[in-house]
Amino acid sequence: MEHYPVLHREVLQFFKPIKEGYIVDATVGGGGHSYILLKNLPDIKIIGIDKDEYALERAEERLKEFKGRYQLVKSSFKDIDRILDDLKIRDVNGFLFDLGVSAFHLKTERGFSFQREEFLDMRMDRTQHLTAYEVVNRYPKNLLEKIIFEFGEEKFAKKIVKNIIEERKKKPIETTKQLADIVYRSYPPALRRGRIHPATRTFQAIRIEVNNELSEIKEGVSKAVEKLNKGGIIQVISFHSLEDRIVKNIFREAKKLKKLEILTKKPITPGEEEIKENPPSRSAKLRVGKKL
Ligand SMILES: C[S@@+](CC[C@H](N)C(=O)[O-])C[C@H]1O[C@@H](n2cnc3c(N)ncnc32)[C@H](O)[C@@H]1O
Repeated sequence: MEHYPVLHREVLQFFKPIKEGYIVDATVGGGGHSYILLKNLPDIKIIGIDKDEYALERAEERLKEFKGRYQLVKSSFKDIDRILDDLKIRDVNGFLFDLGVSAFHLKTERGFSFQREEFLDMRMDRTQHLTAYEVVNRYPKNLLEKIIFEFGEEKFAKKIVKNIIEERKKKPIETTKQLADIVYRSYPPALRRGRIHPATRTFQAIRIEVNNELSEIKEGVSKAVEKLNKGGIIQVISFHSLEDRIVKNIFREAKKLKKLEILTKKPITPGEEEIKENPPSRSAKLRVGKKL
């Protein structure tokens, strides 16, 4: 069974005052949030963006009962200004970003998860060239260390990269399992059986690099604040501290410039019930702003 989209009640509640015009769902994914918005806000229209074609096919299927009230666009949300200009849309009263990969990404065989043996791909947009395989097998040592240390906040980055370099000299590192095993071996034995698998941070780091996630978030969310109508609402759901910090800083900066009122002093997180129903929602943080 498909679970409800993350923090869907809260997201709907913040968009409730919007009576007309467009809401841009910048990460439409499988269309979960968009479906709820189209159903509960009968006079709004949706622009749904995703860089993954497969996500857009699923969104189309999910949303078809609302035909005429939504348009789907395959693109990165970093180009949100150009997308809206091309569509000649000016009255945007809401933006939603639900960042990261979606539940179905983890099930597709693209190497996002180390639970199964898959090729090291990790591309959300399968038309781009850079894959996790390239990053792991071709990046120079220093760059790989920097990525795993910064994007994974991984304190054993040096040791992990040392072992990656040794291994890739012998033969290419092609699969998720090969990489997960190298990371596992790089951890001190006493720390190998923690709450999260040792490979979690390294996989997060490489995924961020492959999809250029942090700079796209910065660009997309900043442009969204600019594009929003006066009184409009922007909501961003992030899943790890690096994403959340970027969003927090953009909102703070916009507040200083008197462009945005921050409606969430502290980010909103899912309640116990939601976490029980959908465990990956555990790390979600929602920040909301209102355009001044
Ligand atoms: C967590 S899912 C969204 C799920 C969606 N809210 C739902 O309810 O079905 C995140 C989606 O954002 C997409 N995505 C991530 N970064 C993106 C970017 N820079 N531009 C466009 N789409 C992006 C991913 O492909 C994925 O489908």
